[in-house]
Amino acid sequence: GNTAARPMGHRHALAGNAKMSSKAAATPFSTKMPVPQVLKPVGRRTAYDLYEISLQTANVDILPGLKTPAITYNGSFMGPTIRAKAGRPVKVRYVNRLDKGANVHLHGAHVAPSSDGYPTDLIAAGASRVYDYPNNQLGSTLWYHDHTHHMEAEHVYKGMHGFYLIEGADEQALNLPSGAYDVPIMIRDAHFDAAGGLILDVTQPQARSTFLANGKPQPYFQVAARKYRFRLLNASIYRTFDLDLGGVEMVQIASDGGLLPEPVRRTKLKLAPAERAEIVVDFSRHPIGTKLVLSEPSGPVMRFDVNRIVPDTSTVPARLRALPPLATPARTRQFKLGVAPSKMAYAINDLSWDANRVDTTIKEGTTEIWQIYNADTADSEFGAIDHTFHLHLVQFRVLDRDGKPPLPGEEGFKDTVLVNPGETVRLQATFKGYPGRYVYHCHMQEHNVAGMMAQMEIVP
Ligand code: C2O
Ligand code: CU
Repeated sequence: GNTAARPMGHRHALAGNAKMSSKAAATPFSTKMPVPQVLKPVGRRTAYDLYEISLQTANVDILPGLKTPAITYNGSFMGPTIRAKAGRPVKVRYVNRLDKGANVHLHGAHVAPSSDGYPTDLIAAGASRVYDYPNNQLGSTLWYHDHTHHMEAEHVYKGMHGFYLIEGADEQALNLPSGAYDVPIMIRDAHFDAAGGLILDVTQPQARSTFLANGKPQPYFQVAARKYRFRLLNASIYRTFDLDLGGVEMVQIASDGGLLPEPVRRTKLKLAPAERAEIVVDFSRHPIGTKLVLSEPSGPVMRFDVNRIVPDTSTVPARLRALPPLATPARTRQFKLGVAPSKMAYAINDLSWDANRVDTTIKEGTTEIWQIYNADTADSEFGAIDHTFHLHLVQFRVLDRDGKPPLPGEEGFKDTVLVNPGETVRLQATFKGYPGRYVYHCHMQEHNVAGMMAQMEIVP
């Protein structure tokens, strides 16, 4: 069946199957990948659009013939997609129908603290709250997810994740693939028991060997022989994906904070937890019947099946979005990510998360360089551990990695960055916005719930 349809020379296509949990795995490429539903506002006011999203448990369809108990937005394992426009505010009324408190973080958004999902700022069970999203930022692929203190890894793992797309005013003129040819794809891993239940065992992240794309196991997606814009998000709580399309070119046009200055042509794409990459794939180079597998070294993630011809007038311009010049930084701060020496806990600058301690105080509007060092090297007590650094409130620029230029695709605005063991990544951000407290943390949520999180206070 599927083996015959694989493109020649695709070395990973079967590797993942052998490792995959035999219990409740589906045959690869037997399920169609859904595109998460775009949410309709419940109200359109002069000044904003109002949406409603409910936090609720649900039994969802992930594996064929089985029901998976999940914690969801609006009852589906992938929350609905909100499509907003830069400059047009959105309000979302979150109705908490869970039997416990929870909150929502719009990852990558420039919002006031009261709408940011601060870990201890919860919507009580049975209550609701309206969050304000001004969308006064560049067009970008954001996502919303749970940020409940100590529970975020489990809540996100069990389904509290969805896309929030901001379309920039500058995007239409670029004539990128749009409409049905602009498809958000959330990839992540999962570990199921025989009944279809999600197993979260922090000691066994490698057991999460079932890869999901938009909430289905290794699905297929039928495409026309033309260009598509795919907005990839890695929503895993630990796994970094090292993606390839069997050698086929993926043209990266955007990262976390939106469009890159110019497209980056690549055949491999590394995506750490919470990172986004938008790619354009031109299927017109492949005859009808071609099947292209998106995979990573431990197995296939999904397959694109070219099945029809459709005219295509979209383009990928050589210049996408000019970067503003870097402001002059007022100071440099150092952050060390690593297991705290005496304790068995994850920490930033040797301190684990404490809601009562402000770690960093920043005057609103200041530009700073943050130097992030990953101290969990091979010769440290617990061995080499990757970390990803995520900063709330602002998008940053990656200045360098160990003094060398940022990697291809890192030239634009970002909010999450992978820091390899022993590596130092320098970021620059301008902390414009709202006074109050925001967190920064490792976005391997297993580490973040175990203490690798700290907070900054923006002061007037
Ligand atoms: Cu995506 Cu603090 O989170
Ligand atoms: Cu980490």
